[in-house]
Amino acid sequence: MNVGIIIWSATGNTLLVAQIFKAALSAAGHMVTIEQIGINSAEPARRTDPWNFTNQPDVTAYDALIFGSPVEAFSLSAVTLRFLQNLKTLSGKPFFSYVTQYFPKPWMGGTNAINQLKKLVEEQDGISCGSAVINWSSKKRVLQIETAKINLVKDWSRE
Ligand SMILES: Cc1cc2nc3c(=O)[nH]c(=O)nc-3n(C[C@H](O)[C@H](O)[C@H](O)COP(=O)(O)O)c2cc1C
Repeated sequence: MNVGIIIWSATGNTLLVAQIFKAALSAAGHMVTIEQIGINSAEPARRTDPWNFTNQPDVTAYDALIFGSPVEAFSLSAVTLRFLQNLKTLSGKPFFSYVTQYFPKPWMGGTNAINQLKKLVEEQDGISCGSAVINWSSKKRVLQIETAKINLVKDWSRE
């Protein structure tokens, strides 16, 4: 499949996970592209500061999508939120979602953020086929990434 990994990453954690997923899916025979959402501000977290997109990846080019985002203030980051509010239809395509967060437990923002992300993509006719919360400060981080990677490759190799 032609897989697009669409992410927002301010400090590189979400990007690192995208690169791990890309390597695994490529090894399984998929064509994989990482596309980063771009903005013209270094301080996107300060919601009162105006910022604009410098890159909004086009999801229509892919057969399957992965969306990745950091958690911000116990929610989906403002950049990802705004990007997904303007998302084009996925027309029944499968998508996997993941968020990275600093705190060690998913209930510290990750679960809420992933639910927001999934809902926005499902509203555009995406078919959710899994999700992961990566807790960066947890000892389980490596396991969480590995588990998500293995499930993703397994699920998408059957399609
Ligand atoms: C403004 C701001 C708010 C954040 N809020 C949370 C939070 O509520 N819960 C949490 O676990 N991590 C929070 N974090 C940490 C990030 O979610 C975490 O470091 C994430 O992995 C960063 O991803 P990135 O490197 O791809 O930008 C916050 C970070 C920033 C900058």
